[in-house]
Amino acid sequence: MIKKNMIKKNISLFKVNIPKNISVDKILHSNFIGQGKYVDIFEEKFANHFGMDGKNILSLNSCTSAIALALILSNVKYGDDIVTSPYTCLATNSEIKRMGANVVWYDIDKKTGLASLEEIKKAITKRTKVVIIAHLSGMICGELKEILNYCHSYNIKVIEDAAQSLGAKYKEKYFCEKSDFICYSFQAIKQLTTIDGGMLYCKKVKDVKRGKLLRWFGLDRTLSSEFRCSQNIEEIGMKIHMTDIPAYIGIKSLNTIDKIIKTHIKNAKLYEKLFKTLDEITVCHSSETGSSFWVYPIQVENRNGLKEFLFKNKIDSSLVQNRLDDKICFKDSYKELPNLEYFIKRILHIPCGWWVSKKEIYYIFDKISEFYS
Ligand SMILES: Cc1ncc(COP(=O)(O)O)c(C=O)c1O
Repeated sequence: MIKKNMIKKNISLFKVNIPKNISVDKILHSNFIGQGKYVDIFEEKFANHFGMDGKNILSLNSCTSAIALALILSNVKYGDDIVTSPYTCLATNSEIKRMGANVVWYDIDKKTGLASLEEIKKAITKRTKVVIIAHLSGMICGELKEILNYCHSYNIKVIEDAAQSLGAKYKEKYFCEKSDFICYSFQAIKQLTTIDGGMLYCKKVKDVKRGKLLRWFGLDRTLSSEFRCSQNIEEIGMKIHMTDIPAYIGIKSLNTIDKIIKTHIKNAKLYEKLFKTLDEITVCHSSETGSSFWVYPIQVENRNGLKEFLFKNKIDSSLVQNRLDDKICFKDSYKELPNLEYFIKRILHIPCGWWVSKKEIYYIFDKISEFYS
């Protein structure tokens, strides 16, 4: 039994992971700190690392921008229905509203909190243009391929919000070959951070080409570099590109990402083994689907009581995200969501990352056992 006074500081749920001794001095004083060669290098290295082709990805300033761009590339227009999750980060759904499209909720899977084919089928309407799947906590939605097949048979595009799930494997691969769009986040506390940043995978190379114009006003940065304003503009874009310093940090962080994710998975496996002996804990992750275990999700009764008890014992835990369907901005999308009702009362995420030692995992398990004894 590990005692509280043996745990020196709070066991945090998140930790910023930036490799030591990265010097950005050369870039800072190179007289070019915008989108330059390091952005291209990062895109190429990221693609290689995760088994993609560099032609299928483009980097951005955030995952929020990646989702916005994926909606635009799916030709979403005012009044289209977008079927999406009510339990996710606001960023998954905020751009739908801003574009004047309709948010239509699917109910989540009661066990994982992720999407299921059964619930998506119930939510799809004649006006559905896009379905958004949020892969949360490090998990990948177990029915991904079935959902993609079903949506494609109705000519509906699927946008995967993988902001929390970089490094998770789906059937031994980092992505599904049927995926249309996958959005990644490199925000501060993600498995790989560039301080802030994002990446968009597109199945179609023509979408990458259009996306690269739209990320920078609609102008082609590969042409007429001495005076780009002379270009004509077919389609108005945004200013959502990545710049060289975040890209450089991303390049360096790719060297550590495998080790980081391996440690998250090792910690999760230990929890899985320990929780088998504790009836009060329902593990959300189904082992047939991959997860990079950004955090470790569990379902418990008296969740708020447990959370408070853990905090008193120097253990951070959190819901990570709350339900969105009861926010005023989504009041037009109201519907009954019984699985969400059930899930939201029980879900709790506990620390699982590379900074959590084996001793601390045993300590967390002991404290949870003590709470329910
Ligand atoms: C599920 C999900 N989607 C989207 C985002 C937005 O990512 P970013 O901060 O890179 O825009 C986040 C951020 O935490 C997230 O957790």
